[in-house]
Amino acid sequence: MIGKKIQDALNAQITLEQHSAQLYLAMSAHCEGRSFRGFAHWLRVQAQEETKHAMKLFEFVVDRGGRLALAAIAAPPSEFGGITQVFEQILEHEKGITGRINALFELSRAEKDYASEIALQWYVTEQIEEESNVGQILDQLKAVGEQGGGIWYLDSKMGKRGVAT
Ligand code: FEO
Repeated sequence: MIGKKIQDALNAQITLEQHSAQLYLAMSAHCEGRSFRGFAHWLRVQAQEETKHAMKLFEFVVDRGGRLALAAIAAPPSEFGGITQVFEQILEHEKGITGRINALFELSRAEKDYASEIALQWYVTEQIEEESNVGQILDQLKAVGEQGGGIWYLDSKMGKRGVAT
């Protein structure tokens, strides 16, 4: 049986992961509006991944005999500026998520909830990958700038991202 503190914190994280999915979908729509179809595709795949992150926690709470309490998902903005700004915002968002995952990990340690600690290890590792991928894209965007052909080359590369498995 899962403790109430951890259960509530995991429920909050489920909502946060779903908010991430909503945020990335809004960013995808923003990119579509500027004809950056590759970036838009990449962001839709990212949104799917966030839904998977939420569902993995959902299943974990269920498996532990916990109670799910889903909350309202905050509406994302609809305007994000240029593509470089979009990825700056993603990186900041992911850094915030990393902080939340680390806090959850600490809580599971403090509560001696070893099963949660092990489950959360996956998220700790995933956040390294998320920040690294977004940071690389941001570096590339800064290198090519938003004028000229480079940005369209990057857009076509982003369009090749495989669907989330
Ligand atoms: Fe679920 Fe992007 O972290």
